[in-house]
Amino acid sequence: MKGRASIHRDFTVATIDDRLYSAFIEHMGRAIYSGIYEPGHPTANEMGFRKDVLELVRALNIPAIRYPGGNFVSAYKWEDGIGPREDRPVRLDLAWRSKETNQVGINEFAQWAEDAGIEMMLAVNLGTRGIEDARNFVEYCNHPSGTYWSDLRRGHGVEQPYGVNMWCLGNEMDGPWQIGHMEAKEYGRLADETSKAVKAFGKGIETVVCGSSNDQMPTYPEWERQVLEECYENVDYISLHKYFGNNSRNTLNYFAKIEETGRYIQAIGGVIDYVKAKKRARNDIYICFDEWNVWYHNREQDSKNWHAWDWPEAPALLEEDYNLEDAIFVGGLLNEFIRRSDRVKIACIAQLVNVIAPIRAERNGKAWVTSIYHPYRFASLYGRGTALNVAVDGPRYDAEAAQDVNYLDVAAVLAPDGRSITVFAINRGLDESLEFDLALHGFENVRLIDHQAMGGDSTEARVANTCEQPDRIRPREGTGIAVVDGAVKGVLPAFSYNMIRLSVD
Ligand code: AHR
Repeated sequence: MKGRASIHRDFTVATIDDRLYSAFIEHMGRAIYSGIYEPGHPTANEMGFRKDVLELVRALNIPAIRYPGGNFVSAYKWEDGIGPREDRPVRLDLAWRSKETNQVGINEFAQWAEDAGIEMMLAVNLGTRGIEDARNFVEYCNHPSGTYWSDLRRGHGVEQPYGVNMWCLGNEMDGPWQIGHMEAKEYGRLADETSKAVKAFGKGIETVVCGSSNDQMPTYPEWERQVLEECYENVDYISLHKYFGNNSRNTLNYFAKIEETGRYIQAIGGVIDYVKAKKRARNDIYICFDEWNVWYHNREQDSKNWHAWDWPEAPALLEEDYNLEDAIFVGGLLNEFIRRSDRVKIACIAQLVNVIAPIRAERNGKAWVTSIYHPYRFASLYGRGTALNVAVDGPRYDAEAAQDVNYLDVAAVLAPDGRSITVFAINRGLDESLEFDLALHGFENVRLIDHQAMGGDSTEARVANTCEQPDRIRPREGTGIAVVDGAVKGVLPAFSYNMIRLSVD
């Protein structure tokens, strides 16, 4: 196969918001307890957080993290997680049928996030609670002193306010499974009023209103229209969620779901524009894709489990073993976010540790990374700057999820200093390598800095990293790509993800 692509310094999509590479972590399964937090673990710090996990998190350079849920947040009382740990109540978590000990609450999590160098993005409970609890939570977190909630925080040893600027207005409120699920208009009104209350605390505060739980929901995209008609002027982002899997064991169709996601983003962009025009609004709303990932390898098994469970504490839930195909998929989805960075400003991989995660941690054991860690890390490290428009010409295929899909999937990012470009290139072809030719216009002195590749080795195809063999699927120095007469030329192996860094003038 042969595929050509071209970029031009002046043909740009948008400045990428760094928060495109954010993450999500929920009080669910072993994400928090025995994931990031495990007092007694050989690497635990004085607060009980695992340093081995923290190190793997830090290497991702994650800009922001959404917390504490997820479905969990819709019946959560944030006040259960503050004050002396020995006085905190144990509660039943209705979302995941588990026992919540509240040993980690906002102050512990804030400390972890600071140690990890990540900004917090907090969700408020609009399922069983509402405006008052949301405003109290913001006051506890953000107000300096001299009020009930701010002085309570200071009494809990946190003198300085956290200054949290990103607030999510509930979670998946369109989903019948959600505790406190609502109709669109009802939720839109509540979100509008809650957002006003949250924003009253300071100028920099931004809010995220819930869009549909995914693009297959019966109320999609009418939900978005109705919700936005109620709250457009008072919110900043609308959330999108989507989980993926190769359930039908058809890899090309799996990869075509990336195009399907592009259409999802485009459709919500259309709804945003429609409501803006209808309301004669002056503000813009962007997309916060605050839950995305691959989730299917053990989904059926887990769903049987959690309804049968007798409220266990931190059960192993959704601990996915990702293979090479999943890593290539994740790289491709991140490429789509880069290509759509004019609309998508924030995106959160869901989740971060143990639960559908790039990082795994054995209880009282080792921490290690799954295959999807690598493309996520490359995108986070090198995908910052300006997204360039990439024109692609090459072989195509039709699939159920989308038609006329390119085998060659490319995104290109010009670094903020304008001196380097990172090209993320995928050959979706299962067995055939692809002759790659990338023309760079408006750039001089193009030189290859680095080429890292995953794939191209059929023995990797169906295996997954494990605690014992955490390096089975990992990037290796790429071969077969060179800069010739200012263009990138070479071969992308079959079924491969490639991160190509170039220095330019
Ligand atoms: O990430 C797991 C769950 O998926 C979240 O709790 C929920 O928001 C979504 O349905």
